Amino acid sequence: MDKFVITGGNPLIGEVSISGAKNAAVAIIPAALLSDGVCRIENIPNISDVSMIIRILHELGAGIKMINKSTIEIDARHITTTEVPYEMARRMRASYYMIGALLGRFKQARVSMPGGCDFGVRPIDQHLKGFAALGAEVSLDQGMVDAHADELVGNQIYLDVLSVGATINIMLAATKAKGLTILENAAREPHIVDLANFLNSMGADIRGAGTDVIKIRGVDHLNGTTYSIIPDQIEAGTYMAAAAATKGDVLIKNVIPKHLESITAKLLEMGVQVEEYDDSIRVSRSGDLMRCNIKTMPHPGFPTDMQPQFAVLLAMAKGTSIVTEGVWDNRFRYVEELRRMGASVQVDGKVAVFEGVEELRAAPIKATDLRAGAALMIAALAANGVTELEEIYHIDRGYEDIEEKLRALGADIRRVTMPGAAVAKAQ
Ligand code: EPU
Repeated sequence: MDKFVITGGNPLIGEVSISGAKNAAVAIIPAALLSDGVCRIENIPNISDVSMIIRILHELGAGIKMINKSTIEIDARHITTTEVPYEMARRMRASYYMIGALLGRFKQARVSMPGGCDFGVRPIDQHLKGFAALGAEVSLDQGMVDAHADELVGNQIYLDVLSVGATINIMLAATKAKGLTILENAAREPHIVDLANFLNSMGADIRGAGTDVIKIRGVDHLNGTTYSIIPDQIEAGTYMAAAAATKGDVLIKNVIPKHLESITAKLLEMGVQVEEYDDSIRVSRSGDLMRCNIKTMPHPGFPTDMQPQFAVLLAMAKGTSIVTEGVWDNRFRYVEELRRMGASVQVDGKVAVFEGVEELRAAPIKATDLRAGAALMIAALAANGVTELEEIYHIDRGYEDIEEKLRALGADIRRVTMPGAAVAKAQ
């Protein structure tokens, strides 16, 4: 297993280019299963969650051609099985998009319950409710979701819980259903719009993505397409936070500034300078970080996937800040690690109260999940001394070339492979 050895204290200075969006890629790649042609997908991030979803498609019998590091061609015309076993599904959340995509294309799917970051209970009842409303028989049996239908028929579906995953999964299943599906109380994240644009580029008829009502008129046939994935909002936000944490000055390129508005607003409130350009954003800091309160919410609110990174800023800000997690039950597991670095934090359920400290100190720490890992890495970059950050496989799930990108900005970060890696990985 690898770890990062980070010597903190260098301000990040220079330019960094943002990769394609993880959470768009892990939905769009399964969506290629719906096509009767070849899909060429560009701007794919080179991260382990994406490699895993590509591997699942390959195991199902799809032809996969890597054109270059960020472009792939998927030919799903000759799929041989509609079953995704536990061993493949357990490593990532997005494996559940295979249910919607396989059900949409073949009217049947058998997919193991998904894995992913541990934020407490992660139910998929809204996904299953959506499939059932489209006419599928859905059952859970030995950890597998089994869904099948003679035909899928459009319906009016109201999500009781605002869910990104359920919105995407229902869109996938409904794209080739008979008639009109109206999905109400839908999530509005940028990657939902990206998925709708991808499906429409193949000939689907989806309107309203990005609002809370999405209308999907089923079509019989989807063509191949060429499509480029949007830049990753959360990767961009993570570099924005890192620039602010280290008193740096970073031009973050290949972004959609509109997707970053809630993140930009909080940085400005904390006294950080942010300049927006057409497709880049510059973040710099010269003065102290000022306290603020943050509440995470579905888009366009402040993203839960930026909560840990901003908590690191608040741990060093002047005064008392309150962070309220509005999406997940348990997303403060990293706080224990941050305390080891000298942060002063009290957690009560979904609320964390930070008393800003002058500085964070290096300590041996471990990533507890993907975004928590990114946050602890930022803490280490800002801290006094040499931090060893373990369990960084979490970070590799979602950040392309992270140490190369950080090193180019002046960070002192090294990846070290720890002895016994092969044994640890096999467990
Ligand atoms: N929920 C239900 N029932 C459901 C589905 C969700 O009660 O059927 C609840 C969840 O327990 C949670 C809330 O609804 O409290 C929101 O969950 P959502 O379904 O929106 O989350 P997700 O689709 O599982 C995606 C991202 C997460 C991100 C959330 C929220 C992917 C692959 N994952 O998860 O990203 O935190 O949306 O924005 O798109 C990450 O990238 O680090 C990450 C964890």
